Amino acid sequence: MKRAIYPGSFDPITFGHIDIIERSVKLFDEIIVAVLNNSQKNSLFSASERVTMIQEIVKDYPTVTVCSFEGLLIDFAKEQDANIIIRGLRAVTDFEYELQIAQTNHVECPALDTVFLTTSLNYSYLSSSVVREFASYGGDISKFVPKQILPLIEEKYKN
Ligand code: PNS
Repeated sequence: MKRAIYPGSFDPITFGHIDIIERSVKLFDEIIVAVLNNSQKNSLFSASERVTMIQEIVKDYPTVTVCSFEGLLIDFAKEQDANIIIRGLRAVTDFEYELQIAQTNHVECPALDTVFLTTSLNYSYLSSSVVREFASYGGDISKFVPKQILPLIEEKYKN
């Protein structure tokens, strides 16, 4: 049984993340989308709001579950009995940081491996921070996120 964790901030989830989830479904038996609940970080959506949004988006994938976690990813992976971490790589600029985290996690927990999926070209520019920046100025973000979460993002920037 290949159980993999796809961790991230997902603040908010974008088409780039969804692309990685859809491709991971074909590679692994179970995927746990794990939303980092980081109380130090000022996020747009609370962890439970992000979990609910993602659950709605992945509801047609029976092998995908969504939850939040706090603390170290390696501890969460042990708890979930998962030994694969999935991360998306958009560009070379992502690589250095991702390599360091993957190697650190592997040193701390040798049973844990990180698998990198290269983001599809049409989403290689996309990030949650770009979505937030655009939305904060009232820009059109319909090419970046699914339509069911558009009003939720707009609501956040209403005032
Ligand atoms: O979407 P992001 O913000 O790039 O995701 C980063 C995430 C959540 C995968 C990463 O920050 C993480 O795993 N955080 C949990 C704390 C942890 O285990 N850090 C490892 C430091 S070496």
